[in-house]
Amino acid sequence: MPTEWASSRDLLLSLDASHGLRLGIESAIRQAIQDGRLRPGEKLPSSRSLARDLGVARGTVSEAYSQLAAEGYLGSRQGAASQVVWAPPARSVPAARPAEQAARWDLRPGLPGGSSFPRHTWARAARRVLPRIPEDAFGYGDCQGTAELRVALASYLGRARNVRSDPAGLMICGGFTEALAIVCEVLRRSGATAMAMEDPCAPRYRQIVSDAGLRVVPVACDGEGIQTAALARTPAQAVLVTPAHQYPLGVTLSPGRRGALIEWARARDGLVVEDDYDGEFRFGRPPVGALQQMDPDHVVYVGTASKTLGPGLRLGWMTLPPPARDPARQVKERLNRGNAVIDQFVLADLIGSGEFDRHVRRLRAAYRRRRDQLLAALAGSVPGAVVTGIAAGMHLLLRPPGEVSGEAILAAAQRHSLWLHTLADYQHFPAAPGSSQVIVGYGTPADHAFRPALDALMAVLTSLPAGA
Ligand SMILES: Cc1ncc(COP(=O)(O)O)c(C=O)c1O
Repeated sequence: MPTEWASSRDLLLSLDASHGLRLGIESAIRQAIQDGRLRPGEKLPSSRSLARDLGVARGTVSEAYSQLAAEGYLGSRQGAASQVVWAPPARSVPAARPAEQAARWDLRPGLPGGSSFPRHTWARAARRVLPRIPEDAFGYGDCQGTAELRVALASYLGRARNVRSDPAGLMICGGFTEALAIVCEVLRRSGATAMAMEDPCAPRYRQIVSDAGLRVVPVACDGEGIQTAALARTPAQAVLVTPAHQYPLGVTLSPGRRGALIEWARARDGLVVEDDYDGEFRFGRPPVGALQQMDPDHVVYVGTASKTLGPGLRLGWMTLPPPARDPARQVKERLNRGNAVIDQFVLADLIGSGEFDRHVRRLRAAYRRRRDQLLAALAGSVPGAVVTGIAAGMHLLLRPPGEVSGEAILAAAQRHSLWLHTLADYQHFPAAPGSSQVIVGYGTPADHAFRPALDALMAVLTSLPAGA
């Protein structure tokens, strides 16, 4: 019977000693290298320590190593650890979509530039907080998130986004994505069957809602945001909206529609899920406060660190009306028992010290400059292009001059190695009106790549065959 042994370098070997110990060790290591479990560059334990772990003579291990070196699997230098030098033939990796592979410039919406993460500020805060984190924080804590982050967020959200919350009603989650999945599960368990969603909206969220067992009911948006009269005609018990900056149209929910949405929720005892994905970034005018403060019992406010810090953190937060708290905790506990605590402590420190605000202000100025640059380039090169939506966030909607199809735009973008989305990517019904409008995400490129990405966009727009 093979025996599993752990070596001092945590190398788990399946050892079959039926043909002798030396052969068993040799073949276990050979197999691990051939399987790719031991990769080139990996150092093996010293013969002395492996021999001790396996309870065999050191010479037995040395002989096995020598044999594997002779076969070309291991290399060793005098006095240094034996090292794997052989690699199995590379497996073929599935090819990326050709357009994605080719695109050199990236103006897709939704991504903050990789260069904007405040590494030094984060590192300083991490050094500050790490020694202070209580030992028990590294156990299974409160699945709603650390008290420190919830306290910091409750005051930040009240101050910066006009959200009414208390730490007990806040839940930390893995970005908006997880918050939506949790809310949908809570709704489904409470008997809800359908969720209304803005049309257009990000398709991945339609998928999350339907995966949770809720029917997606599309409700059209216009220049004032979601059409609340149309919403009232649906059977939905909940609605997902982006009131501060409709995604991707870029408009704000009008004051009249804000009131109507709250009326709808009260009349139906329904739930509004407010996705405030980029509410921090409004240029020139003060931001619109959260809808949630109009009725915290009927609105779940969801915020995310994905735009201000980076999606890789997977950090978001939501306010929960009192009846939803226990059910949401049950879902969260079952899903993952809470999020990584070190990042929560660091973010709480950054918010408390004011560094988060400073970072957001810096980013806001940077995105505003980029938006201005984009508008100036359009005015100079494509004066017939029409930009819609408010001056906010990290994307805008652009109608190229003439009657140009979305396919023609994407084909031109591919020729210029530019990655773009059109409105069609977000519409519920294929080929709906306006589908050839372009959504330009100006937050994505790193600083050095922004100008060339804009040049590529201008080249695409000026090359379009009007009427194609
Ligand atoms: C409309 C919208 N909401 C929310 C988010 C953020 O999602 P998450 O917090 O899961 O990264 C995005 C990200 O692109 C988005 O486009």
